[in-house]
Amino acid sequence: MEQKPNTRIILIGIGSLLFIAGALFSYILYPHEKTVVVTEPVIIEQQNEYNYAWHAPEEYEQTVRLYQNSISLPEPKTIGDLSVESAIFARRSFRDFKDSPLSLEEVSQMLWAGMGVTSEDGRRSAPSAGGGKPVSLFIVVSMVEDLEPGLYEYLEESHALGLVREGEFSEEWAKITTQPHPKNAPAVILLTGDMYHRYHIYGEATERLLLQESGHIAQNLYLQAESLGLGMTVMGGFDPSAGQEFVGTKENEPVVYLVPFGKKE
Ligand SMILES: Cc1cc2nc3c(=O)[nH]c(=O)nc-3n(C[C@H](O)[C@H](O)[C@H](O)COP(=O)(O)O)c2cc1C
Repeated sequence: MEQKPNTRIILIGIGSLLFIAGALFSYILYPHEKTVVVTEPVIIEQQNEYNYAWHAPEEYEQTVRLYQNSISLPEPKTIGDLSVESAIFARRSFRDFKDSPLSLEEVSQMLWAGMGVTSEDGRRSAPSAGGGKPVSLFIVVSMVEDLEPGLYEYLEESHALGLVREGEFSEEWAKITTQPHPKNAPAVILLTGDMYHRYHIYGEATERLLLQESGHIAQNLYLQAESLGLGMTVMGGFDPSAGQEFVGTKENEPVVYLVPFGKKE
């Protein structure tokens, strides 16, 4: 029997309602995924005015290292022979160092490029979050004219080296890395980073910020090495706790980068 048009519309309506009710029912009853559009960063921990999650340890020690013996470095040059563009274009990692000494001027210039003071108010060659100083530069000297072999810290405010300890450490590199270039280099810069530096401001971001800062310093070193005609490479392949033990910093201040450098020819 042929249905009247009205009955057909009523049946389609009832069917649609049942379908919608079924869909709603299964949506409520069964686990489902939903997409939440996050328009603001979600910070689970307490939030400070810098928007970083903040749960600093109640107490932590800020290390200030003082040295009995410090050695002044030659004045750094602020004008060089190579344009920034040429240094960027020429920059390459180099590992096959020539067995000849670096000059004190070359070491001085490299350290200054990495973290030297370049303004009256103490700002430095590489940018730093909030103008802090979470990264420190140490240098292992093996073959540098007018400088005893040993471990030194770069004291950027006085552009000098603080003597940590004298000595030849060629055997100790084996504990830190299996790669041969630090042992073969006339000098190796070690970047250390203080994980608690300004922790009360930057919280969990502290580590990320200091690694970012290390990258800026390392790139300055690359470009300066290129301008001086020296070879260098950055190195992430090492044991950070062995590095930290070697340098003698506290546990919260591991080595974050190694930078062996030397003459190319
Ligand atoms: C984070 C990082 C870690 C690195 N670690 C090492 C390393 O442990 N040893 C090494 O010889 N080179 C290391 N390098 C250098 C790279 O091997 C090098 O940059 C890459 O081969 C590209 O060559 P280039 O620098 O000449 O352009 C590292 C580079 C970066 C950025």
